[in-house]
Amino acid sequence: MSVVRSVILGCGSYLPENVLTNEELARRVETSDEWIRTRTGIHQRHIAADDENTSDLALAAARAALDDAGVDARDIDLIVLATSTPDYTFPASAVSVQAALGITHGAAFDLQAVCSGFVFALATADNFLRCAGFKRALVIGAETFSRILDWKDRATCVLFGDGAGAVVVEAQRQGGGISDRGVLQTLLRSDGRYQDKLYVDGGPSATRTTGVLRMEGREVFRHAVVNIADAMDQVLAQAGVKAEQVDWFVPHQANRRILDGTARKFGISSDKVVITVDRHANTSAASIPLALCEAKSDGRIKQGDLVLLEAMGGGFTWGAALVRW
Ligand code: ACO
Repeated sequence: MSVVRSVILGCGSYLPENVLTNEELARRVETSDEWIRTRTGIHQRHIAADDENTSDLALAAARAALDDAGVDARDIDLIVLATSTPDYTFPASAVSVQAALGITHGAAFDLQAVCSGFVFALATADNFLRCAGFKRALVIGAETFSRILDWKDRATCVLFGDGAGAVVVEAQRQGGGISDRGVLQTLLRSDGRYQDKLYVDGGPSATRTTGVLRMEGREVFRHAVVNIADAMDQVLAQAGVKAEQVDWFVPHQANRRILDGTARKFGISSDKVVITVDRHANTSAASIPLALCEAKSDGRIKQGDLVLLEAMGGGFTWGAALVRW
């Protein structure tokens, strides 16, 4: 029986020009390249210029994705932009991207699930394409976390970077089996009991300020390992796929130790894991599409490959998606 699947037609990404190395950071706060590398695997991160907003990064990634997919912006009828660092409280940064692309039909909105944002946005777009009559979506993850960091807090400011990634997704009829192209399975979870483990201490309603990121790193690490493994287990079981059948594992890039530990637990060999955390640091909702684009453009991810995405972030939120490219 044929079904509608959300097929990824292309991807694009954007990283700000300015690179901040661990050595440069060590001149600002009491840290060292050695500490950051051994605890996180991060060597450097990109930082948006003063006049670059999240929607600028998102727009650059969206344009690159449209180009890669060979799709005209006028053929897009849905934009889902995952971000926790929108340009303004409202309107959504997605409508800025929509206007800049000259799109005046369809719908555009932001989605907030912190580091899990891209998985949540892809699952949302997938449902809109399969069940709500939309035809072609831009799913974007874009962040300027440099704007919500406490640059005096060495425990958090070393971990994050800015960037954006996007994919173009199209509703297509497929056979209905596991060999179909497109989003095959998604799993989304949240548990608000842990919201004080990773949060921003400001907001329009609570404090009328933007606030800065606060985190209990050790607690987040502990939950990340358990929740990510659980999401991967469930999404693979629901799709009837074994971990060894996955061609590429594209995790949210938070910490090299979390990535290595998860891959080991599932018996996924390290050469199947796409790693960008060393050069990008944690770009929150942007990290998965940035990693997808890198692996697609250097020829690792090819049409027909089975790709497993996973993420965990503030809230807590977490999830996974199984996609055939
Ligand atoms: N440089 C030097 N020393 C530091 C730094 C730093 N940048 N940051 C913290 N330290 C010190 C601490 O002050 C502490 O010193 P003390 O023992 O004298 O008190 C010591 O290092 C150990 O601190 P911990 O926080 O216990 O260090 P830990 O080994 O847990 O590593 C880290 C910290 C890297 C943040 C780790 O907990 C982690 O990766 N957690 C996951 C957090 C994460 O990835 N969050 C991203 C968002 S959620 C997600 O995406 C999954």
